[in-house]
Amino acid sequence: MGKNLHCKHNHPLNLITRRIENYFNNNYRNNWRAPMFSKFDRISPVVTLTQNFDSLLVPSDHPSRALSESYYLNSEYMLRAHTSAHQSDLIKQGLDAFLVLGDVYRRDTVDASHYPVFHQMEGVRLFSKQELFSHLGDTSRVTFFENGSRDATKQERHTIETSLCLEENLKNTLRNLANNLFGDDVEMQWVDAYFPFTHPSWELEIKYQGEWLEVLGCGIVEQEILSSAGADSRVGWAFGLGLERLAMRLYSIPDIRLFWSEDSRFLDQFNVEDPNTKITYKPFSKQSPVINDVSFWVPDDFSENDFYDIVRNIGGDIVENVELFDNFVHPKTKRKSKAYRITYRHMERSLTKREANEIHSGIVAAGVQQLGIQER
Ligand code: PHE
Repeated sequence: MGKNLHCKHNHPLNLITRRIENYFNNNYRNNWRAPMFSKFDRISPVVTLTQNFDSLLVPSDHPSRALSESYYLNSEYMLRAHTSAHQSDLIKQGLDAFLVLGDVYRRDTVDASHYPVFHQMEGVRLFSKQELFSHLGDTSRVTFFENGSRDATKQERHTIETSLCLEENLKNTLRNLANNLFGDDVEMQWVDAYFPFTHPSWELEIKYQGEWLEVLGCGIVEQEILSSAGADSRVGWAFGLGLERLAMRLYSIPDIRLFWSEDSRFLDQFNVEDPNTKITYKPFSKQSPVINDVSFWVPDDFSENDFYDIVRNIGGDIVENVELFDNFVHPKTKRKSKAYRITYRHMERSLTKREANEIHSGIVAAGVQQLGIQER
C-alpha cells in the first residue's frame, strides 16, 4: 500500500493515466470552459464495507462479499475491491462528473495478468434532463422519468429515451477513449454484463493478439444510488477500467509483476515527457523458470485464494504462475487432494534451483501451518 504507482512520474500506469485524463479534459468542458471531470487520485484504499458494497446495492449474500475474495481489516473496514466504492460519497458531495484513480485489492489466482493489487479508474457522469437531451433544443416533448417497469434495456424509473440516450452517450465516450488510446483500427465489442450498481450494464472488450480482452465494466447508474446520495433529479452513467490491462496492451508489457519493478531497465523505457509517445516495451532479460509441483490433502474449509495468498506472501514477485493441475477426491475416505504447479522466475535476474526450492518448501510449510494442508 501507499506506493501510488499511478502518480509516479514516468511509470507506465502514470503515462496511461495522463492520456486518459487528457482525453477527458480535451473533450469534456463545462459551461465555463473548465475541465468537466474532477479528478481524485489520492483517496485512501481503506474503505468501509458500506462504501465497497452497501452503497452500491451489493446484496448481503453476494459472492463478492466472501472472505476469500477481498482483504478485510475487520468487520467494518476493508481494502477497496474497486474504485466504485467512492461513487456514492462523491455524488453526495455534489459532484456531477468525476474520475477516481487508485489501487484496488482482490484475492485471486496467481498468473501473468493477476496480482493482489492493481489499479482502476472510475468515471461517473450525471445529467439533468436539459443536459441529457441538449441536442434536441426543445426538451419539453421528451419524458425523463416514469414509473414503469424494468426490462433488459432500462430501469423502472427511466423512460426508454432516457435509457437509450445515456447508453449512447456512455458508449460513445468509451469508444472514443479506446480509439484515442489504441488507434482508429482497434477492434472492439460490447458484451452484456451484470453489476448490482448499474442497469443495463456492459463490458468493453478489445482485440489483443487474436483474443478478446475485457478492459472495463460500465452501465447506467441505479437510480436508487442517486436518490440515496441526494441526486434523484439526475440520471447518470459509470465505468470502471483496469489500468494494468490497458497498459499491458498499449505497451506490450507481458507480465503484471513488472509494474512493481524498480529496475531502471524497466522504468527507463517509460521515461518520456509526452505521454503520447509511442512505446513498445523491450524485455531486458528472459530468465529461465524453475518449476516445482506440490500435492496435498486439504481440509474441508480450504479456499484456493488462501493458498494463493501464501504463495505471494512467501514467494513475492518471484512466483510467475500457479496452476491447479490435479483435483482429486479419494473414493473411500472422500478426502480432497489438490496438486499445483508453481512456476518461479525472477523478472530481473537469474534464479537458482536451490533458491526456488527453498521458497517452495517455505510455501508448503506455511500451508501446513496456516491452512492445515497435508503434503502427499
Ligand atoms: N466496479 C466494477 C468492477 O470492478 C466496474 C464497474 C464500474 C462497472 C462502474 C460498472 C460501473 O468490476
